[in-house]
Amino acid sequence: MLADLDDLQSTALAELAAATDAASLEAWRIAYLGSKGRLKAMMPRLKDVSKEEKPAVGKRLNEVKVALESGFEARQAELEGGAAAAGPQVDVTQPGAVLPEGRRHVLSRTIDEIVEIFGRMGFTTAAGPEVEDEWHNFTALNIPAGHPARDPIDNFYMGEQEGSRTLLRTQTSTVQIRTLEATKPPVRIIACGRVYRPDTHDATHYSMFHQVEGLCVDRGITMVDLKTTLFQFARAYFGPEAEVRMRPSFFPFTEPSAEVDMKMRIKGEWQWVEIGGCGMVDPNVLQAVDIDPEEFTGFAFGLGIERIAMRKYGISDIRWLFENDVRFLGQF
Ligand code: DAH
Repeated sequence: MLADLDDLQSTALAELAAATDAASLEAWRIAYLGSKGRLKAMMPRLKDVSKEEKPAVGKRLNEVKVALESGFEARQAELEGGAAAAGPQVDVTQPGAVLPEGRRHVLSRTIDEIVEIFGRMGFTTAAGPEVEDEWHNFTALNIPAGHPARDPIDNFYMGEQEGSRTLLRTQTSTVQIRTLEATKPPVRIIACGRVYRPDTHDATHYSMFHQVEGLCVDRGITMVDLKTTLFQFARAYFGPEAEVRMRPSFFPFTEPSAEVDMKMRIKGEWQWVEIGGCGMVDPNVLQAVDIDPEEFTGFAFGLGIERIAMRKYGISDIRWLFENDVRFLGQF
C-alpha cells in the first residue's frame, strides 16, 4: 500500500502540473480530493494493513493528503496569478460597438422650429381633430353648401355623425373655428398638423401633408400686422436676406386674400417660392363664431410645411418624407 500511495502522489502531482485552467483544475480536485476521489478510495484499505505497519501507512496517507491539498492550493494561486498578470481579457483600446442613434423626423424638427419662431412673436399653439365635421371644415369658414370645394372628389368623406358628414380635414383652417369657439379675442395662435386630400402621389403631391395655420384676432389688426408677421418669420427661418411677397388671390374665409411667396436661398441662389395663402379674416367667419366684426378684425395664414422643409433642405420628392427609409431620413 505504501507503493500505491507513492504512485498516487506522483501521478496526481504530475497531472496537477498539467492543469492549465480553472476547469481542468476543478476536474483534478474532484478526481483526487473529492469525496469519491482516489485519495478517499485508499482509506478503506487501511483496515487490511497489519497492526505493525499501520502507523507508518497512516502517516504516509496523511502526507499524501497534505501534499495533494497544498499542491492544489499552490497551483490554483499560480493559475489565478497568471491570468491577472496577463492583463484584462478585454482590449479597452478597441473602439466600442456603435449603436445606431435615432433622431426626430425632419418634418417634426421643422414643426418645432416653426413653433419656436412664432412663439417668440407671442403665438401659442392650438390643435384640432383630424376627423372633422362639415361645419368646421367648410360652413363656418364661409364655404357654403354646394361649393365646389366640398366635392367628394376632393375630400375624404368618412361617414355621418349627428346629421353632419365627417371627413378628414383638408386644411388646418378648421382650427381657426375651433379656437374662436372656445376663446374670445384677443387670440394669437398657430396650429401645425396633418391635412388630407385625395391627390395622386407624385414628386409634389401626397394624400396627407402638413400645414401651419396662423390666426390673430384683436381690435385694430390690419394687413400690416399680417405682412410683418410673415416677414419676421421668413427672416428668422430662411435668414436675414429672406423676403415676403403677397399676390392678390381668393379664399372664402379671408377678404382680402393673398398668396404668400417667400424669397429663400436655394442652392446658393435666392428664389421666390409659393408657400401658402393668407388674408384678413372674412367678417362672415367672425360672425359664425359670434364675434362682432365691427369690433374685432384679424388676419390668418396657412403655409405648407413640406414646402418649407423641402425647399430648405433641397428635398425634391415629397414621397421620400413618408417612406421612412432611414438612409434618407438619417441625412437631416
Ligand atoms: N386653407 C388654405 C388651403 O389649405 C390655406 C389658407 C389660405 C389658410 C388663406 C389661411 C388663409 O388661413 O388665410 O389652401
